Amino acid sequence: MSILPLRVGVIGAGTVGREVVRSFLERSPRLAPSDGRPLVLAGIAEKFTERAIANGIPAELLTDDAFALVGRDDVDVIVETMGGDEPAHSLVRAALAAGRHVVTANKHVIAHHGPELEALTRETGSVLRFEAAVGGGIPLLGPIAQDLAANRIARVRGILNGTTNYMLTAMARDGRDYADVLREAQAKGYAEADPTADVEGLDAVNKLVILARLAFGLWIPPEAVSNCAGSTSGKPGTPGITGVTAEDVAALGAEGRTLRLIATTRLAEDCAIEASVVPTAVPAGSPFGRCNGVLNRVEVDAEPVGRVAFEGPGAGGAAAGAAVLSDLVSIARGLGSTWGGAVRAEGGADVPVRPVDGECVAAPSGACYPVGD
Ligand SMILES: NC(=O)c1ccc[n+]([C@@H]2O[C@H](COP(=O)([O-])OP(=O)(O)OC[C@H]3O[C@@H](n4cnc5c(N)ncnc54)[C@H](OP(=O)(O)O)[C@@H]3O)[C@@H](O)[C@H]2O)c1
Repeated sequence: MSILPLRVGVIGAGTVGREVVRSFLERSPRLAPSDGRPLVLAGIAEKFTERAIANGIPAELLTDDAFALVGRDDVDVIVETMGGDEPAHSLVRAALAAGRHVVTANKHVIAHHGPELEALTRETGSVLRFEAAVGGGIPLLGPIAQDLAANRIARVRGILNGTTNYMLTAMARDGRDYADVLREAQAKGYAEADPTADVEGLDAVNKLVILARLAFGLWIPPEAVSNCAGSTSGKPGTPGITGVTAEDVAALGAEGRTLRLIATTRLAEDCAIEASVVPTAVPAGSPFGRCNGVLNRVEVDAEPVGRVAFEGPGAGGAAAGAAVLSDLVSIARGLGSTWGGAVRAEGGADVPVRPVDGECVAAPSGACYPVGD
């Protein structure tokens, strides 16, 4: 008896999508799980098809019309690796509404449109998976949603953005200032020409929203997550790591501390959700303090298991592409959406969201950085 293949359409063959396509073209036998349907590459949408052909993508698979690819009756699964809000959001929505499954690496779309997309999957029975959206190649969302399902999660915190971790590591190691390390990160391809989403913490906010959904069963609005540390004037400080100075880093270093952009969410006793993405003064010898460069690290505190930690490459086309492929294999095996076993989202809109409360340390710039362990 032959098993019908799952036909896959990829939208956006850039850093991540190119790796997904390459895997199909170079090692397709590995994309036929022994306990699931074979996966076949049916089409690729790219904005500039000539550039894609020059990059080795077969012309017969290419279209410049992503909506036409989503509308094809012979496509079963859409991989969205184009990024950004629109038209990525509309393409994902159209695919789910048409009953197709979707794998996306797009943390922005999931964090900003999660409630709508989750409701759509429940209506249509489509599957939506997004392991690559948080932690790149680190298996993180699946373990939280599935393997920790019998535990009560109290807190999730982590270094979720490799660009800012690279910058803070370089500032502490070399005593250099913010502008200098940002220029270097851009030259090395770790930071984009417009670094706002990374350095202001917005990328990490999107990832924290996704982690909160899996840990607590609620979609919190990204704009409710605090991304500014306090200041000695009592006013909110500057966003993300943009206000961190070489003097702050040196003063904290003299006390055995180092700054890391830590994203934290936890359930408060009154059932509010606390959520912040702020530069945090952690002991230099702690696991977060020793998590250097572009690595990511996430710690989950749960009962009864205790603390569980994940660390590894949080970005990079090959690592994120592998996470996308793993999601495809999961769909081929008949598994459901990424939130599968996680607590179901109910009444999320009414739950108060406030910054994480705790002890802070004043720095020379006037910033008050939370103290972490
Ligand atoms: N890079 C990573 O390490 C990483 C890790 C985890 C998750 N992600 C996520 O993965 C997604 C893709 O990131 P990336 O780094 O691969 O981005 P990228 O290199 O910019 O690739 C996106 C590709 O999509 C194409 N595209 C844009 N609009 C399109 C449209 N309307 N139709 C068809 N193609 C279109 C782009 O073409 P143009 O270049 O011509 O615009 C580009 O080739 C993002 O959501 C990102 O957050 C990335």
